[in-house]
Amino acid sequence: MSDFFKDKVAVVTGAGGTLCGPIAVDLAKKGAKVVLIGRTASKLEVTADEIAKVGGTCRIETASVTDEPAIQSIADKVASEWGPCRFLVNGAGGNQPPAVADRLAFDPVELTGPMAEGKKGWWDVDFNVFESVLMTNTMGTVIPSRVFAKQMAAAGGGSIINFGSMNTYRPLTRVAAYAMSKAAIANWTQFLAQYLAPAKIRVNAIAPGFFVNDRSRKILCTPEGGLTARGEQVMAHTPARRFGEADELLGCVEWLLNDEKAGFVTGITVPVDGGFLASAGV
Ligand SMILES: NC(=O)c1ccc[n+]([C@@H]2O[C@H](COP(=O)([O-])OP(=O)(O)OC[C@H]3O[C@@H](n4cnc5c(N)ncnc54)[C@H](OP(=O)(O)O)[C@@H]3O)[C@@H](O)[C@H]2O)c1
Repeated sequence: MSDFFKDKVAVVTGAGGTLCGPIAVDLAKKGAKVVLIGRTASKLEVTADEIAKVGGTCRIETASVTDEPAIQSIADKVASEWGPCRFLVNGAGGNQPPAVADRLAFDPVELTGPMAEGKKGWWDVDFNVFESVLMTNTMGTVIPSRVFAKQMAAAGGGSIINFGSMNTYRPLTRVAAYAMSKAAIANWTQFLAQYLAPAKIRVNAIAPGFFVNDRSRKILCTPEGGLTARGEQVMAHTPARRFGEADELLGCVEWLLNDEKAGFVTGITVPVDGGFLASAGV
């Protein structure tokens, strides 16, 4: 096995989450020293325990990815104790229910209101939360990149992975803030890729299809283990006819981060989606 990752510092934000927990463990298995970032220590400890089981090296650092001084302070500490960050996986992100509408499209009743329970239209979403979703998914990717890419540039290069979604390509109904923020990720990935190319830093994104996490389980699955109406719709548009498993992202992550395998690949967004994007749904 190549020792490309061995003893290099990899920073994973959202490392206590469904997708980036396994990604952090896999990077530790490959010999990277992994910095686990998130807001909740207990979630990061679950990932750290998995890393300990495989004999890997990691450290837990709690902060919000939208808090630039906090991320800078983690970066300074890590650089002085472990050396410069060479890999950054910007996994922190997600949606928040108050920013999600119930209605799929406009209904004239929205002009007369008030809305019945479960019938919230686009005008009724909480705009403070709408803004918070935009901040987390956009600035929460920009800030760690701004901080850690400087270390990569000084060290002679590195690689960054951002997280888009199926919303990167076309907005799903109901989730305007999340959709808009994930569309921004593809554009930002292209911008940063061209800007940082002279510093030998590659910047790419992964756009996962539907992988069940704690939040989406309630939206896609019934308590009995079946599918909600929205879950059925997703399944009908996913040619693989199943949800993804977090481990199915690992090959793509390794490929994109590894200069020996993807040294000429930068600025792209790779869908890992069971064919969702390929399907017209008819
Ligand atoms: N699962 C899917 O189907 C899917 C599909 C497309 C795209 N994605 C994207 O893939 C990424 C990972 O998703 P996931 O399914 O693994 O989500 P997840 O299980 O909810 O994990 C996300 C992690 O991000 C952390 N986080 C959220 N806001 C943060 C903040 N401000 N600062 C620091 N950490 C923060 C959360 O921990 P704390 O709350 O403790 O901070 C959480 O552990 C996200 O960007 C998501 O939008 C997921």
